[in-house]
Amino acid sequence: MSDVYVLGGMNMDYVLSLPKLPDKGETVKGSELLINPGGKGGNQAVAGAKLGGSVYMMSNVGDDAIGQQLLNSMEGYGVKTDYVGVLETEHSGTALIFVDPEGENMIGFSPGAAAKIDEGSIEKALSSAGEGDVFLSGLEPPVSKVNYAARTAAKNGMEVILNPAPAQDIPKDELFQFADVLTPNQTEASALLDTKIESVDDALSEGKTFLDWGIGTAVITLGSDGSVVINDRVHKHFPAQKLSDEVVDTTGAGDAFNAAIAVYLARQSNISKAVTFANKVAGLTVIKQGAQKALPTYEEVQEKRE
Ligand code: RIB
Repeated sequence: MSDVYVLGGMNMDYVLSLPKLPDKGETVKGSELLINPGGKGGNQAVAGAKLGGSVYMMSNVGDDAIGQQLLNSMEGYGVKTDYVGVLETEHSGTALIFVDPEGENMIGFSPGAAAKIDEGSIEKALSSAGEGDVFLSGLEPPVSKVNYAARTAAKNGMEVILNPAPAQDIPKDELFQFADVLTPNQTEASALLDTKIESVDDALSEGKTFLDWGIGTAVITLGSDGSVVINDRVHKHFPAQKLSDEVVDTTGAGDAFNAAIAVYLARQSNISKAVTFANKVAGLTVIKQGAQKALPTYEEVQEKRE
């Protein structure tokens, strides 16, 4: 089996369930506090390992108690942490998350040590990767470092998956030339394309622009409307897999989706099947609270096979 290399942030998530998300200047009393490992990169790595993938994490934590907990937890899930540095001068990543009764969230985070990932560490990690291996990154690390890593991964013959989250201004031409697969959600796709994507039809028509930018395949996720896949051969809507009426917490669902695509493509190069699998993985993630705690195992996904 090929390996998946994930570049991204590792945070300790402090999750408060609230009766409603606060407005500006408002204080809302919550009922529960959950402390559990997260970070988009961390979630992707753990999701991949839980789905049976061989996953390497590329990140940093601080030399503090949280950093040790993040590392222990990740290793417990089977992620290889050889390329996670421990930095004495930085704190570990932290995220503060509010979740409302519909499972929607608001997140603020401080990446801490993860933002200090350097080119030497990226080079070292990816020197052990090659043809058939998959590189997955979001935009939690500095864009210049994501760019460097994506270029190195592409040079090594790896399949490059870029998840443009969290949304921000990025040098599209530079970064996107290395992306075999780009996986924006509806909001990120709208921002990148400078247009409003409000429906499956919008995503199918507007998303074609991504191919003009040199991206091999665009996968636009649309929440409960599923996702669309656009490349030279496929131009198709894949409905979401609703596995329960109750959405408890959507945190980490996008990360699980991306990891599922990466793990699937590391085994078999079929983006349509990868997205069908990823829709199911995301559907299972939202029915439990928290990020890494809520991610399903390969067996749990198989049990849900219709
Ligand atoms: O995608 C969810 C993640 O975003 C959370 O786990 C939090 O740490 C933030 O990085």
